[in-house]
Amino acid sequence: MSFYQDAVTGLNSQPKWLSPKYFYDARGSHYFDLICKLDEYYPYRTEMALLPTVAEELDQWLPKQVVIVEFGAGSLHKIRPLLSTSQAIRGFIPIDISAEHLHNAGATLQQEFAQLEVKPAVGDFTQTLQLPHLELEKDNQRIPKLGFFPGSTLGNFTPDEAREFLRNARQSLGPDSMFLLGVDTQQDIATIERAYNDAKGVTASFNKNILVRMNRELSTNFKLDQFSHRAIFNRQHSRIEMHLVSDIEQQVTLGDKQIRFARGESIHTENSYKYTPATLAALVESAGWQLQHTWQAPSAAFSEVLLH
Ligand SMILES: C[S@@+](CC[C@H](N)C(=O)[O-])C[C@H]1O[C@@H](n2cnc3c(N)ncnc32)[C@H](O)[C@@H]1O
Repeated sequence: MSFYQDAVTGLNSQPKWLSPKYFYDARGSHYFDLICKLDEYYPYRTEMALLPTVAEELDQWLPKQVVIVEFGAGSLHKIRPLLSTSQAIRGFIPIDISAEHLHNAGATLQQEFAQLEVKPAVGDFTQTLQLPHLELEKDNQRIPKLGFFPGSTLGNFTPDEAREFLRNARQSLGPDSMFLLGVDTQQDIATIERAYNDAKGVTASFNKNILVRMNRELSTNFKLDQFSHRAIFNRQHSRIEMHLVSDIEQQVTLGDKQIRFARGESIHTENSYKYTPATLAALVESAGWQLQHTWQAPSAAFSEVLLH
């Protein structure tokens, strides 16, 4: 579905919603990088602190050669410790929906790791993906794939969507694949809510970027100062929700339609589900993967799991 069709469906639903994948144009990717530098945003720094240990130990679980495929690769920060340490990784396929950002990040990484074959692929990981062909495999020599999905991006899916994604990933990666998954296992609600309500308002700008993008690409007329960012923890679903709340009663034009907003009505823009080690294990196993090894941050706020 196109951005326009998705927006029509989401904004005519009750409650209103938009898919978080539309945060990520070049500006949205830049805001996400700024979020990662915030004091409040524990997931990024907790996972970055854990990855060197993962990198040190990873090869004992891997075949002699693998190609690593990162889903939602962003600025390619998290792949670097793995590429610097692992002897098994021969090729790298970063996949992202944010095309310009991906190509820039891929070119920089290729210069840094000249021996590695880097083949960025623009794509939507909610759809079935055809992986690009690598030079390494040109004589029909297939190299097993290691999926990599850090940043707790899995948490942006509902558990049913997450299961579907993990099943599809297994199909895309092919036989003998493995998967390294980074998931937020923070359980302290105040810490979680602080992470998505930073004092500088960067997360608010990231959230509102979806309206900026609609105004530019879909010719809507959202007034940014008439919507407020709200992030609240939903205990029933164990997820933090991001919303854009209309401060007044108003109408917004989308194509030939008027979208009505009551005062206080929200557009639900993102979920970030928080897992426990037990709920995570149950999810991945229900998607047909087996848990091979778990690395947990000392604070228990983040887990990196290796699946096969
Ligand atoms: C939360 S960020 C994580 C970035 C990076 N992996 C990290 O851990 O720091 C999510 C990334 O996934 C990308 N993304 C979001 N939805 C996507 C989709 N449906 N298909 C492909 N990439 C997507 C975004 O552009 C962004 O780079």
